[in-house]
Amino acid sequence: MSDAHARRVQAQFGASAAAYVASTGHAGGDDLERLLAWVRACRPGRALDVATGGGHTALALAGVAREVVAFDLTEPMLRAAREFIRSRGSTNVAFVLGDVEALPFRDGAFDAVTCRIAAHHFANVAAALRQAHRVLRPGGSFLIQDILGHDDPAANAFITEVERRRDPSHVRAYRASEWKAFLRAAGLTVIDEGVVRKVRPWEEWTGRTRMTLEAREALEAFVRQAPERCRAAFDFELAGDRIAAFTDRMILLRADRD
Ligand SMILES: C[S@@+](CC[C@H](N)C(=O)[O-])C[C@H]1O[C@@H](n2cnc3c(N)ncnc32)[C@H](O)[C@@H]1O
Repeated sequence: MSDAHARRVQAQFGASAAAYVASTGHAGGDDLERLLAWVRACRPGRALDVATGGGHTALALAGVAREVVAFDLTEPMLRAAREFIRSRGSTNVAFVLGDVEALPFRDGAFDAVTCRIAAHHFANVAAALRQAHRVLRPGGSFLIQDILGHDDPAANAFITEVERRRDPSHVRAYRASEWKAFLRAAGLTVIDEGVVRKVRPWEEWTGRTRMTLEAREALEAFVRQAPERCRAAFDFELAGDRIAAFTDRMILLRADRD
């Protein structure tokens, strides 16, 4: 990853750490339940949560695995996650700072690796997956959840622009076929998959990244002027001249190390 992209991620998340801990969309939902069901099936002794953000997935893992490592690139985020997880009474979580493209763990160190609502920020997803594969023991499970890329190129370009205006560290969301190709190339075999919907309440979603009023108004104008079919692809709800919410499809994949 370039230094410039690392700085973009750290600037974006460092200043919003508390908002990510407080975010209801991150705190739970069908996606976290699905991920957790897979984790229970794996019965991991040691689990790694990469790009842990506010720590909601790591906290869920802590109830299932013996030891958990919560890993993130952004120090203030990692501190916020530590405070949050400790406040919930979990003592089996260690916190490690770093880049997913260069995981500082030995080969085969983990039974399960999770990564939720984060890969769209990675500069090089293929490199991240090679690292996940390397730190998994043979037979271990990689459990990924992320925003699903849209099959319609116009809808995909529209939502990518919306995402980047709201958060310049957004790289892109991948389609299911792209995820499967990445996983296969990394030596991970898909054994289960699903798609769930996640509603994004507009005020909360734009507020979390501290957009200026001007940037937000410009984004809202961009959304209103977009072709109806692009808005419809993400169920944008307009209430008069306000945007109330839109809906992302989130892909979930369980892929095991050969
Ligand atoms: C939306 S948050 C993750 C949410 C969290 N996984 C959860 O389940 O609530 C995205 C996180 O990805 C982290 N991140 C982005 N790029 C990263 C990288 N290359 N290596 C490690 N962490 C990264 C950011 O610092 C940020 O904390």
